[in-house]
This record gives sequence, structure tokens and C-alpha cells, in this order.
Amino acid sequence: MTGKKFTTSSFIEGKKKNEKISMLTAYDYSTAKLLDEAGVDSLLVGDSLGMVVLGYENTLQVTVDDIIHHCKAVARGAKRALIIADMPFLSYHVSVEESVRNAGRMIQEGNAHAVKLEGGEEVVDKVRAIVRAQIPVIGHLGLTPQSVNLFGGFKVQGKSEEQAKKMIQDALLLQEAGVFAIVLECVPEALAKLITEKLSIPTIGIGAGKYCDGQVLVTQDMLGMFSDFKPRFVKQYAQLGENMKIACKQYIEEMRTMEFPDKEHTFAMDEEVLSKLY
Ligand code: KIV
Repeated sequence: MTGKKFTTSSFIEGKKKNEKISMLTAYDYSTAKLLDEAGVDSLLVGDSLGMVVLGYENTLQVTVDDIIHHCKAVARGAKRALIIADMPFLSYHVSVEESVRNAGRMIQEGNAHAVKLEGGEEVVDKVRAIVRAQIPVIGHLGLTPQSVNLFGGFKVQGKSEEQAKKMIQDALLLQEAGVFAIVLECVPEALAKLITEKLSIPTIGIGAGKYCDGQVLVTQDMLGMFSDFKPRFVKQYAQLGENMKIACKQYIEEMRTMEFPDKEHTFAMDEEVLSKLY
């Protein structure tokens, strides 16, 4: 899809018309501009920021201010895509009031169009209140990285009958609470398909198979720029990391041999003025 602005209604329309919804993460102006120009429907300022941009071990140290700072830059770069700000760890866990205030800051200061938060039944009161404050919310079920310490690592979720039933129940609860879409992360394909069929709002998968209504990937992963680890569900569409290293090595070599900067990269000075300086 290209052209007119992608909105939360476009998510619902996409599901109705069976048109897949594309989402990628973005954290800065120039990348957001490139991805938006490429026609991506939605940009998520994810708390994956902590890992792929800030170099933390997980997402838990990311703050509301971090997301707002990066969201502002993304919003300046994107003209068409819907911008979603991720609510970081502890920003919606303490109280309903604090959750609404933090979500509001994402819109008011970060220029996001919507917020995302992780979890099901445990957060549904916060979701309801944020939606009531006229802020669109996208849910996130399955492997919710902010629960990494509870899960004991980054593992596929929903494999047991009990887990799967809870996830279906959570998805229905979130839909009822007013979310406009749900991210399903690291979920068996068959379960993601079943949840997708049960919902009237779209599912956006990451490691959840092809039957979701859309897909999301971390941009650094899919462009081959993040080498600490590569989740199995990631497809690398480019090797930008390797290309960056090649370009960087060439620059170092050329500046050492004075092949760079060349005439075309250099400013000349009037000879007469110059002679007066010696
Ligand atoms: O933070 C993030 O990038 C995410 C996506 C992986 C869905 O939550």
C-alpha cells in the first residue's frame, strides 16, 4: 500500500480486505524517512531500541524519555506511516493514572499516533483507560520481552494447552478493551492462525507464521545490521552491516593514502588572498 496516510482505520480495513499490513521498527529520522518512502504502513518505535541501538542486554532499561526522544525523530522522518510508540517496562504497570499519563506523553511529546503495550488480562484495565483517553492502543502477546525474567529467556510461547488457551482469552479481552491490533511474537503458526481467525481486529506477527494479518520485524535484524544474535524467525533482506564495514574500510584506506578528500570534495581559495597569509 502506498499514497494516503495509513491510520488505525487502515489496519481494520486491511484485515477486512485481506490486505497484509507491513510494520518495521524505526528509531531515527533518516531511517524512518527511508522506510516511509519505501512504503511501509507502520513504524514502531519499539523498546528493542534498548538492544539494537543502545546496546543493553534486554529491553528493561529503556525509559519513557528514551522512547519519546527517538519517537520525535521518527515522526519528523515519516509522512505516511502510522507511528506507534512502545510503552517501556514500568511505564504502565504501577497504576492506571500513570499509564494514561505516560501514554499521553508519547502522543503529546513524541508525536506518536498510537502506543503499544505488552500483556493480556493483567494490563487490560490500563488498556481500557488509555483508549478512553482517546489514545489508540496496539496489544502485544506471546513472547513479551519485558517479561524475559519471568519466562527465563526469549522462548516460543503458547505451546501448551494452558498457555494457548490463556493467549486466546487474552486476545479476546484486549479486543474487547478496544485495541486496534495485536502483535503476536514467537507463537506457533497454528495458534497465531486460530487467534487471527477469532479476532475482528488484525494480528501482526513476528515469529508467528504467515497467517497473521501483517508482519513486523526489527529493522536492524532484517537489514543485517545487528550481529549480537539472529532470532530464527528473522529473514535478512540485506547485509548492510557487512556493506558498512566494507565502505568504512575503504574510507580509512583512502584517507590514509590521501585519495580522499579529492578535488570534488574540497573548497578552493583565491591565490592572491592566500599569498597574503604567508
Ligand atoms: O520492541 C519491539 O521492537 C517490538 C517488536 C519486536 C514487536 O516490540
